[in-house]
Amino acid sequence: MDRQAFFEQLAGRKNPLAFQPEHEPRMERLRLRLGDLRGKRVFEPGCGAGPLTERLAEWVGPAGHVLALDACPGMVKRCGEAVASHGHVRAMRGKAEEADLEAGAWDLILCFRFYPHLEDAAGFLRRCGEWLAPGGELVIANLEGSRELNAIHARRAGVRHDRMPSGDELRRQLQDRGWQVAEVLDEPEEFFLRARRA
Ligand SMILES: C[S@@+](CC[C@H](N)C(=O)[O-])C[C@H]1O[C@@H](n2cnc3c(N)ncnc32)[C@H](O)[C@@H]1O
Repeated sequence: MDRQAFFEQLAGRKNPLAFQPEHEPRMERLRLRLGDLRGKRVFEPGCGAGPLTERLAEWVGPAGHVLALDACPGMVKRCGEAVASHGHVRAMRGKAEEADLEAGAWDLILCFRFYPHLEDAAGFLRRCGEWLAPGGELVIANLEGSRELNAIHARRAGVRHDRMPSGDELRRQLQDRGWQVAEVLDEPEEFFLRARRA
């Protein structure tokens, strides 16, 4: 099974990748790390069925805007249904590497449980640099550390080769590409990296 088939199959399940009670303290940590998002313009690539998108809708509030994008049609449909009552949130189908977004228009690009699945991470990061508004931030976050996430992926056929770099590796890769990395955490129950264009 390839990655696309894996996610399409997952999209057909009840509540794909829904947060479990043990995730809640990690989600609260993520919310605190992201800070006050009210009124912010947030791009969420790889949104899946939208478990985080629903929370982002609340966190940015009606003065903000969330664009959630996913390559898998089944996931986008689920996400669109989940946020249908929020006029300031849009769910769109597409590959993150090829997204046609307004340049300089986004306060936050939030890659949540998404980064290791990118086919062209270098190309995507270059585009992120164009999409972010001055002072805007790129955040790459997971609910597990890189080691723990890679162990989970190793057991799943469609994503077996989707490797999450360690915090140090990703910091170096970003710095080499002209990003300023302000914060990196790679702990068993949290991966969080925040960067800005240098
Ligand atoms: C592990 S899931 C996480 C979904 C969501 N962020 C969540 O936390 O539930 C990864 C998602 O990334 C999507 N995806 C994978 N490669 C993609 C790409 N190149 N562009 C956009 N979405 C992609 C998959 O379809 C899948 O829905």
